Amino acid sequence: MQRLAILASGSGSNAEKIMEYFQKSKKASVALIASNKTDAFVLERAKKFQVPTFTFSRKEMQEGKLLEKLKQEKIDWVILAGFLLKIPEDLIRAFPDRMVNIHPALLPNYGGKGMYGMHVHEAVKAAGDESTGITIHLVNENYDDGKIIFQSATAIDPTDTPEDIAQKVHALEHRYFPEVIESLIK
Ligand code: GRF
Repeated sequence: MQRLAILASGSGSNAEKIMEYFQKSKKASVALIASNKTDAFVLERAKKFQVPTFTFSRKEMQEGKLLEKLKQEKIDWVILAGFLLKIPEDLIRAFPDRMVNIHPALLPNYGGKGMYGMHVHEAVKAAGDESTGITIHLVNENYDDGKIIFQSATAIDPTDTPEDIAQKVHALEHRYFPEVIESLIK
């Protein structure tokens, strides 16, 4: 039974889909929800699934407190779902090819520092792109740069607002992220 930890800084709608998906799984379970924000709504969602939570500051993460907790909990896979802090290299090295992130655009476009949440969808809208999508990739020492594992696209209508684009992208994330994690674990 593989033990997953999900790192999230905000709402946690992806974390909820993943907890739901693996609730009855014989292959994996979500063993920990960790956040750098003590008021992140993802922590409320974790309560609904009785998944233990852990909060930490950026400083504590850099001091190794998060890595210590992940080892203590015997975590096998680290899933980044809306986690906004840069992951320290020792943490990446501790989970070789076992740390994945989801990005709300078709990388390599609209990736990198500062490219998260609505900033991405506003940039896609401003560029007048006819499609956007999601990218699931392994995490390396550079933002949004690791090996791409999965991508899926959706069409953008000229009348779509950045909020409409965000909704279409979220629908793709919720549809595919849990399944892609399961395929990786296999
Ligand atoms: C998602 O769109 C994800 O791609 C991005 O941050 C957002 C998190 O959404 N990295 P949620 O907190 O899972 O609702």
